[in-house]
Amino acid sequence: MNLLILSCGTRNKVVQYFREAFGKEGRVICTDCSPYAPALYEADAYYIVPRITEPGYLGILYDICKKESITGVLSLIDPELSLIAAHKNQFAELGVTVIGSDYALCERSLNKWELYCWMREHGYPCVKTYALWEDFDSALNQGEIAFPVFVKPMKGSASIQIAKAQDRETAAFLFSHGEEMIIQEYMTGQEIGSDVYIDLVSKEVVSIFTKKKLVMRAGETDKAISFFDANLNSQITQFVRENGFVGQIDIDLFEQDGVYYFSEVNPRFGGGYPHAYACGVDHMTLIKNNLLGIANPVRTAPYPQNQVMMKYCEIMLLDAQEPKKETPI
Ligand SMILES: Nc1ncnc2c1ncn2[C@@H]1O[C@H](COP(=O)(O)OP(=O)(O)O)[C@@H](O)[C@H]1O
Ligand SMILES: [Mg+2]
Repeated sequence: MNLLILSCGTRNKVVQYFREAFGKEGRVICTDCSPYAPALYEADAYYIVPRITEPGYLGILYDICKKESITGVLSLIDPELSLIAAHKNQFAELGVTVIGSDYALCERSLNKWELYCWMREHGYPCVKTYALWEDFDSALNQGEIAFPVFVKPMKGSASIQIAKAQDRETAAFLFSHGEEMIIQEYMTGQEIGSDVYIDLVSKEVVSIFTKKKLVMRAGETDKAISFFDANLNSQITQFVRENGFVGQIDIDLFEQDGVYYFSEVNPRFGGGYPHAYACGVDHMTLIKNNLLGIANPVRTAPYPQNQVMMKYCEIMLLDAQEPKKETPI
């Protein structure tokens, strides 16, 4: 049982947790396109690979899988989720399980407009969203939406190009100066993040950790506090089941006037996952069990509430003269 973590970047903690869970039973191999991705150096072995858009990229991954006898693969970046999901069968031929949701679900999660349409059709409370200026304008005229509003890219991530607009002129400027933008009602409620694991064997939601976000920084949760609400958990479970997600997912919600509004889904480990792990919510072991063919029971043990996660920076030194392993084989 060996795991391949793709595009590991700065997610050192995720790599450390996997190594801890796997112990002597399996190896953790990482890739990144940059030798300056610090998480590479936490792994049992690493490979510097081309960018995911380069021709031949997948072939290199398949070679690594063969060479390292990989049994499971996951990616930590959004644009790569659909790519590996689309090649699930090719990985399976090599005995490798893609730890992630199906292609269509990865695409839906990447596209905030598509996800909104799905949520509206399926009756989930969600943030009012417009993808066409004319639709937004007529909603404004009919009093369906009012300023301030929130403008962001339809397929954005890491909070890039997000902005609040107080008036029509600013909203029009932001909307026309980005590619494929959407306009939303501005949410003032409490932001919530949840780390969810859906068992790859039983397909059941086996673990949910929820936290209230206290401070955001550079698109990531910087400080958050753990809490538990059985009502929220059952809404999350239904949402996840109806969509059909599997593996690790990260869901963002807003709580406003007593209602939980679903906002966005990242079908991968979110940047705030270390909070869950530090509270004893170990999804790495769940993945390990699944790779061994073992279904995990639904987690019933409570995790501690009111635990505040505070992120801080660390550094790593790399000898730039030491030869790097380029591509494998
Ligand atoms: N409609 C909204 N109203 C108020 N704040 C929002 C809204 N949508 C997003 N945000 C803020 O912007 C951040 C990033 O938006 P999000 O939709 O999560 O995109 P990303 O994919 O960049 O994480 C959120 O964490 C939240 O703080
Ligand atoms: Mg987000």
